[in-house]
Amino acid sequence: MCGIVAYVGDREAYPIIIDGLRRLEYRGYDSAGVSIINGSFNNYKKQGKVSDLEQLLEGKDLHGTIGMGHTRWATHGVPNDVNAHPHLSGDGNLSIIHNGIIENYASLKQALENLGHTFKSDTDTEVLIHLIEEIRKGEKDLSLEEATRQALQKVDGAYAIVILEKDNPDKIVGAKKSSPLVLGIGDGEYFLASDASPMVKYTDKVIYLEDEEIVTIERDKGYQIRTIENKVTNPKVLQIDLKIEELEKGGYDHFMLKEIYQQPVTIAESMRGRINAAEGWCKLGGMELHMNRFLNAKRIILTACGTSWHAAMIAEYLFEDLARIPTEVEYASEFRYRNPIITPDDVIIAISQSGETADTLAAIKSAKTKGAFLYGIVNNVGSSIPRETHSGSYTHAGPEIGVASTKAFTSQLTVLTMMAIILGYQKGKISEDYYHRLLSELESIPAQVAKILNKSEQIKYIAGEVRNASNALYLGRGYNFPIALEGALKLKEISYIHAEGYPAAEMKHGPIALIDMYMPVVIIATNESAREKIISNIQEVKARKGIVIAIITEGDDKIKEMADFSIEIPMIEEPLSPLLSVIPLQILSYHIAVMRGCHVDQPRNLAKSVTVE
Ligand code: M6R
Repeated sequence: MCGIVAYVGDREAYPIIIDGLRRLEYRGYDSAGVSIINGSFNNYKKQGKVSDLEQLLEGKDLHGTIGMGHTRWATHGVPNDVNAHPHLSGDGNLSIIHNGIIENYASLKQALENLGHTFKSDTDTEVLIHLIEEIRKGEKDLSLEEATRQALQKVDGAYAIVILEKDNPDKIVGAKKSSPLVLGIGDGEYFLASDASPMVKYTDKVIYLEDEEIVTIERDKGYQIRTIENKVTNPKVLQIDLKIEELEKGGYDHFMLKEIYQQPVTIAESMRGRINAAEGWCKLGGMELHMNRFLNAKRIILTACGTSWHAAMIAEYLFEDLARIPTEVEYASEFRYRNPIITPDDVIIAISQSGETADTLAAIKSAKTKGAFLYGIVNNVGSSIPRETHSGSYTHAGPEIGVASTKAFTSQLTVLTMMAIILGYQKGKISEDYYHRLLSELESIPAQVAKILNKSEQIKYIAGEVRNASNALYLGRGYNFPIALEGALKLKEISYIHAEGYPAAEMKHGPIALIDMYMPVVIIATNESAREKIISNIQEVKARKGIVIAIITEGDDKIKEMADFSIEIPMIEEPLSPLLSVIPLQILSYHIAVMRGCHVDQPRNLAKSVTVE
């Protein structure tokens, strides 16, 4: 939440900053602002998207080779021009941008007000820059970085910050705790940003700052990193492998559509070098190193949020069904606060696209203190969760920019399925035959997904028929119950249609009261093991005039005749079926949202990476 970018070097800063803000806009888009130093201190900010800021800045003198920018997702204070970042110190000499929450801002603000400070905004961020100003008042020669360090010692909460000083056009100070900050190192130029996307055009050398590190960049002297305890650190400079094309829409109307269509490739990438059905092997490097922990685990606990939590739900079916390991799934936000019983025999798996979700990060940090073995399944390379876990597997889906998660979800499922197959086989819980069948069907998934993508026009037609609904129900059983949850989440977050996912059999315990001729009911009806029961559920919906959209197995004429609309997907072993059944639901939500004129890639109130608890 909130994107930050800063630059110092020989180039014009503004084009780099505004381009960086466009790339970081997925992190928040309720207001944006910039600070540029060019003799004078140019601070501009505006409620709305980065494009609104650009309009405001048309014709302004924004030359200068040092500057920073921010795109906001509001926490403290409504989204408006005043609460937008940057925020200035009382004397106007310092400017700050911030991603995170200063939890003790109210008491700090009160103390500063007692000292005569007045505040323009409702934000916690403005309090921090006044605090730094106040600390410097006492000691005129105190450097900006030292004053920042002292101020941060008084702060509780999460921050990634960048600070500029009007009279010092050669220096940038940044710091981080629990919110990401990446230092990019170019040839005589430096970048700071929430992720590497604003800098990939210029450099592939980065340092991912650790919590409670403060970086000082000086134009001609380079950078220095210190801890909040004032110890100099020398982190390794990493080389990132991120191509600019991966960050563009590539001819698609929306990132979400591009990401849906990328899935045959991204699922294959998740499996690359990890599976060979012909030779009969499947392995994950991060697991192999710790196989005994997995094989001897008394319990697996999966923790995540949102769509990643739905992947965890499916993994519960996979681990229990294939590997016979007791498995639990926890919302990360609840896990941490309910004092869970965790032992060193537990394996805790954290699933996250961004690797930065604050709730998930906090959950694993607290589980770590109880001695559990932590495994991360993460897409974003170099993010915080992989650094916190003992081992893990990257999903290799490439950057996911659409706020609604699609390709990240199927890549998580691919990795989790491989894990369950490996464990089931090594524990002797699945037969040799079944093992080989699962491997070869898993390898065929990219081609099967491509077939479903070809049905986009048919799904678009169905979208047109239900686009005006106010509510929708999604039903599924077994492996496809979490897909019902995921289908409902996709619809509500991008089209603002209220949607609920339920286990199909639960419908009669309440939700059935909602069904009438206006209610679309999406039923995932591919499970062979519960076929007759699903047919009964469809009849129950039809008897109440609900509009049935059934996801069926190719050639299932019986359900096809009963449903108002049906979408056929290829036959596959049931544990692998979520990888296919989710695809039509993604496409359906996408088309409905577009038809309703919604901003598909940037739905209201949401942000891609939720770095506040
Ligand atoms: O980056 P993470 O996977 O940890 O994010 C978790 C959720 O915030 C995320 O899945 C969210 O629910 C998406 N908007 C779903 O499309």
